[in-house]
Amino acid sequence: MIASPEPLIDAFGRIATDLRISLTDRCSLRCSYCMPAEGLDWLPRGNVLTDAELARLASLFVSLGVRTVRLTGGEPLLRPGLPGVVGMLAALDPAPQISLTTNGVGLARLAQPLADAGLLRINISLDTLDRDRFIEITRRDRISDVFAGVQAAYDAGLSPLKINTVLARGTNLDEAPALLLWALERGYELRFIEHMPLDAQHAWSRADMVTAEEILARLEGEFTIETAEGRGAAPAERFLVTDGPGAAAWATRPGRMGIVASVTRPFCRDCDRLRLTADGALRTCLFAHDETDLLGPLRAGADDAELAELIRAAVRGKQAGHGINSALFVQPARPMSAIGG
Ligand code: 5AD
Ligand code: SF4
Repeated sequence: MIASPEPLIDAFGRIATDLRISLTDRCSLRCSYCMPAEGLDWLPRGNVLTDAELARLASLFVSLGVRTVRLTGGEPLLRPGLPGVVGMLAALDPAPQISLTTNGVGLARLAQPLADAGLLRINISLDTLDRDRFIEITRRDRISDVFAGVQAAYDAGLSPLKINTVLARGTNLDEAPALLLWALERGYELRFIEHMPLDAQHAWSRADMVTAEEILARLEGEFTIETAEGRGAAPAERFLVTDGPGAAAWATRPGRMGIVASVTRPFCRDCDRLRLTADGALRTCLFAHDETDLLGPLRAGADDAELAELIRAAVRGKQAGHGINSALFVQPARPMSAIGG
């Protein structure tokens, strides 16, 4: 292992310390804003990093200064032996902080084993509280699984428990206050995420997306919301909810809420992230058009120094920002589900 004092620094002085690892591009749901009903052409299984390959790369990234690892998908709970992967990461030296982003399906069974293996935090996606609407959005009748998963994660002490919600006009925008209230009553931190142009169908439209400003305006009709402390490198703007319906019965008061305004309030200047796809490509931005294959060289016998140089070169080439708001913006070829959220 290389003990390198040199941080992973890009041309704009940003230091990469956060790695998001996509464990599979497959998913148990078919959210309409993410992928088509029939799913996508999944990666051939042989192209997906094995646990041993993952361990090798994760160890290398940690030696290069990565301190936090988030496991994503597709749906990461579909990865066989997931608690073992978490355990492997937790055993690295120095051990990174490990978190997970999931749709919650199957979490009821896995939350405790994951916490036992060293998982610290979890983000669970939930766009509605209504069963019929959930079926409409995700094309699957699984909302009770998700509720059970949320409860299991809470019981397993995975905190703060965050709920990710994407709002869409004509689908669930009217539910924003109800979702927030549901989270506040239970002590979860709701984070509204602006829809980004990363859907497989390329149906995203700037005019249709629900903006942070619109979300806040809608919530402020019912809740008293204050800006919380600065967000640092974290993408979510954080808010304190100091008053609102049934406030006396909230799990904590003030409650917390976040908005990830990737489109209208970009945070690229503070970005500390790298992404590793399930097939071992390093991406320095969700919206990058090029990526660096690490699996090919790894399978061809590259040593750690060679892989480290590939990683450093990729980081040096990280783009300044996503460019969504430019007229020249072109969506990357890989959809969100094949990159990892
Ligand atoms: N824009 C923003 N968020 C998205 N998600 C999936 N696709 C998109 C998109 N195009 C969300 C999911 C989940 C998280 C991983 O990303 O709802 O909460
Ligand atoms: Fe699956 Fe997440 Fe895409 Fe929904 S948004 S289909 S849960 S990857």
